[in-house]
Amino acid sequence: TKDWNGIEQVELRNPQGASTRVSLYGGQVLSWRNERGEELLFTSSKSIFKSPKAMRGGISICFPQFGNCGSPDQNGFARNKIWTIENNPPPLHPNDSVGKSFVDLLLKPAEEDLKCWPHSFELRLRVALASDGNLILISRVRNINGKPFSFSFSYHTHFSVSDISEVRVEGLETLDYLDNLCQKERFTEQGDAITFESEVDRVYLSSPQCVAVLDHEKKRTYVIRKEGLPDIVVWNPWEKKSKAMADFGDEEYKQMVCVAGAAIENKITLKPREEWTGRIELAAVPSSFCTDF
Ligand code: BG6
Repeated sequence: TKDWNGIEQVELRNPQGASTRVSLYGGQVLSWRNERGEELLFTSSKSIFKSPKAMRGGISICFPQFGNCGSPDQNGFARNKIWTIENNPPPLHPNDSVGKSFVDLLLKPAEEDLKCWPHSFELRLRVALASDGNLILISRVRNINGKPFSFSFSYHTHFSVSDISEVRVEGLETLDYLDNLCQKERFTEQGDAITFESEVDRVYLSSPQCVAVLDHEKKRTYVIRKEGLPDIVVWNPWEKKSKAMADFGDEEYKQMVCVAGAAIENKITLKPREEWTGRIELAAVPSSFCTDF
């Protein structure tokens, strides 16, 4: 299928009726539905589907930088570029076998990208829908430069929730975090779960492999399992910032929470020809459930 800019989108379905849709614009996952057809990702009704803006919502790929507030490339340029479908990507690690329903995308830098980030790379993304409806994203970054380079990465995931004041994020207790609202000052999480009563914009450091987002009202838990991504970003813009964002509804902060597997504090460094892999698996389950794997 194509969106209204004529940019291709790929839809994956599993036999049980779960589905996901990914756009070649940014390699962004725009939708993930369970077998009952319920949408699990938030997308803003005010989204601007026009370059150079990334669509507000879904899962956007932040590469090669995360943050850098105010710069036109905040959160990296990968999410604003047209990716291609790759029919025969280099083989993945055997542990990354993901069943039959997947698509492989590829981004290589254009001339203009090399002006702002002068490193040749290949960024691959496999989006897979498992037979149990889980959504799996596997990214690989390869250095095809003559010199080493460093980057940060985030799977900026906007979960759909019924009411942010009923949401808890578990698995980040006692961790240190950088607070983006306070010049990246470092704090230690004191609460036994993260709840939301005002704007939150934090990077939790060295987090466990499994983190859960509990939506009490919907009786739904999102489980995030990650590999190669030590950090977790937690973001909700709350009332004032929502009003300041042109592509976000004034009240929409109540229906979403962004919890993203990321590598931010310690950048990933690749020598020439080296490759890095970062993987997340998202599950939406009826009750509180989180097992390390
Ligand atoms: C969050 C960042 O993850 O993304 C925030 O921590 C930022 O600081 C937010 O405001 C949205 O970023 P953007 O570039 O999509 O508007």
